[in-house]
Amino acid sequence: ASLELGPYRHFMQKEIHEQPRAVADTIEALMDNGAFGASLFGEGAEDVLRDVEGVQILACGTSYYAGLTARYWIESIAKIPCSVEIASEYRYREAHANPKNLIVTISQSGETLDTMEALKYAKSLGHAKTLSICNVPESAIPRASRLVYYTRAGAEIGVASTKAFTTQLVALFTLTCTIAKLQGRLDAAQEAGYIDALRQLPGSVQHALNLEPQIVAWSERFAPKQHALFLGRGVHYPIALEGALKLKEISYIHAEAYPAGELKHGPLALVDEAMPVVVIAPNDALLEKVKSNIQEVRARGGEMFVFADADSQFGESEQVNVIRTPRHVGVLSPIVHAIPVQLLAYHAALARGTDVDKPRNLAKSVTVE
Ligand code: G6P
Repeated sequence: ASLELGPYRHFMQKEIHEQPRAVADTIEALMDNGAFGASLFGEGAEDVLRDVEGVQILACGTSYYAGLTARYWIESIAKIPCSVEIASEYRYREAHANPKNLIVTISQSGETLDTMEALKYAKSLGHAKTLSICNVPESAIPRASRLVYYTRAGAEIGVASTKAFTTQLVALFTLTCTIAKLQGRLDAAQEAGYIDALRQLPGSVQHALNLEPQIVAWSERFAPKQHALFLGRGVHYPIALEGALKLKEISYIHAEAYPAGELKHGPLALVDEAMPVVVIAPNDALLEKVKSNIQEVRARGGEMFVFADADSQFGESEQVNVIRTPRHVGVLSPIVHAIPVQLLAYHAALARGTDVDKPRNLAKSVTVE
């Protein structure tokens, strides 16, 4: 991968735009295979994955949010329990070990100290089934893991992770379907449907990137704000978390994410004209519930910025701004909706004149405690 900026102003912007390619590269072996298979995860993977009883995901930062997204897939498609924990928490508590569970570490760099230590701790508790999802070949965490799936995002320079995140999601979806298949929970029609959805994903990601001019217009209204609230539900809640993280990391606007159903249990008290509310609201089973959450915000004078999709049927109004991704992509929708929140953070930061690729106080890879 070229380390040149080309037509882009920052590596972050370049990396956001590289996502169709990064996603396509990450699923290349799967597409060549035409089917989910244990061999994608390395030698002996079938023996490891066939009888796992559950999945414990350990990660930090953006990688942790990829894990939170995967939990929805693992429990609904592979139908085994999944917990997701911040590595620095797991490593210091007396965790319950079930050696039949699969430990999945997610780390772009493969060098994050807390994630590495969490993996070592899991192994010391008797966990031998370990899998690393990593973007850097031969880094420490994959070397310490039994199985590995390398994302092929290419070098990520911007401190705020973008293409590493979406490719982690692709890897986690592939893992989910592979476990489901090995355990007899994925029939041929479902498998064909998911393979097809993945094949179309780079195109859907490109469609989301094409929304950039509309997002630039929003970001100008965002840039003067002090605070922002991000809402999502279900599998899109982690995307709200990721959107809030991106915004605070690079624009220094204080942002928080809430599952939309929690609105009335606290954050609604903060809503007024000064607090923009970003809502991730594609057409899924929870859409009607999200719409009623939006009414609650509206009634308090809040201004909303809604990311919806072609099927969501949101009306725009004075307080409700809507940007629609061009098609509804079903179970992969969180991957597509990661794009507009990245772009919003990027352009808000640009408007505020921050050092986008090197935000203050943050490091790309945290190898100290
Ligand atoms: C740092 C980076 C984040 C990243 C996190 C975990 O905080 O700034 O972008 O998500 O580390 O890094 P990892 O390499 O383990 O995914």
